[in-house]
Amino acid sequence: MTKTITLIEGDGIGPEITAQVVRVLNAAGAPLSFDRQSLGQKAWEQTGSLIPEATLQSIRRNQVALKAPCTTPIGKGFRSVNVGLRLAFDLYANIRPAHSLKGIKTRYDQVDLIIFRENTEDLYIGEERVVDADTVEAIKRITRPASKRIIQAAFDYALAHQRKKVTCVHKANILKQSDGLFLQVFRETAAFYPDIEANDLIVDNACMQLVMHPEQFDIMVMPNLYGDILSDLSSGLIGGLGLLPGVNRNEDIAIFEAVHGSAPDIAGKNLANPTALLQSACMMLEHLGYDEHAQRIHQALVSVLSETSIRTRDLGGTASTVEFTDALIAKL
Ligand code: NAI
Ligand code: MG
Repeated sequence: MTKTITLIEGDGIGPEITAQVVRVLNAAGAPLSFDRQSLGQKAWEQTGSLIPEATLQSIRRNQVALKAPCTTPIGKGFRSVNVGLRLAFDLYANIRPAHSLKGIKTRYDQVDLIIFRENTEDLYIGEERVVDADTVEAIKRITRPASKRIIQAAFDYALAHQRKKVTCVHKANILKQSDGLFLQVFRETAAFYPDIEANDLIVDNACMQLVMHPEQFDIMVMPNLYGDILSDLSSGLIGGLGLLPGVNRNEDIAIFEAVHGSAPDIAGKNLANPTALLQSACMMLEHLGYDEHAQRIHQALVSVLSETSIRTRDLGGTASTVEFTDALIAKL
């Protein structure tokens, strides 16, 4: 049965990597049809809206989207289009797996961690106010229900996927009320999962531990801002932003996207690495029950990386976006 998904090609490098990911999906015979919708800068230029209503309707209808990075125009009073989309559907869980890939040389070869980032509150609620000419304040909001559902999602995932440990990352020593609540909910929730090891780390220590011994981490759960920062850090452990996939989801809707942004510095130059979006597409295939297609694509990716020296520039190679994809399709 063919499944229709919403496809958003985004801005910057978005259209280039989307085109290549669609080529791979088609070459692998993935039973998908694409409902193409716009979002971000280009949508704003074409329709006057950063998040067009037609795009929201399409996602509501299909319940699954593959989304390339989008640019939010700066200095025009816009809120982030990505944050806006996540809030529009209450996609409370941002899940970002960082696995070492065979064939990519980094300082570590045993990274296998998954970040569960709370996606709806913390400093991202966008409540900043000017107190006086020299002072501004931003609100950090942490609530029990939002903390509980992301922490539960992390433990449920650990249980379902035979993972052993969940680590909570916080700054409760300073933010005693807000991160204190997050940590308290973590400890309460952990008590319901006696077979899964639970521990917690202060965020600065967590950064140091990640850089020194990333293999000690399994599932990690944290408020929004730390999740944003630690996921870019984790991408660095496995070879960079060109690799790290992710999903924004709740019980009904899932939007799959790379961790990286629209990379305006290399946009339109056929230099971008399509792997992060491709791995996001593999997560989507698994979500849809097309595990075999996901496996085939992953195998082809590993073959290119471990059997050839064909790589995009971010991984030290000279291949273009299209050349890298050609090599991958040849392995399928
Ligand atoms: P970025 O992730 O776009 O770029 C950071 C660095 O990584 C750049 O040097 C870029 O060339 C490189 N890079 C990123 N993806 C790559 C890939 N696939 N292949 C090779 N190199 C890659 O972050 P930046 O520059 O802070 O943000 C640029 C724009 O992206 C901003 O407008 C931002 O708002 C937007 N953004 C969108 C996101 C989304 O749609 N989910 C997420 C993050 C940022
Ligand atoms: Mg980010």
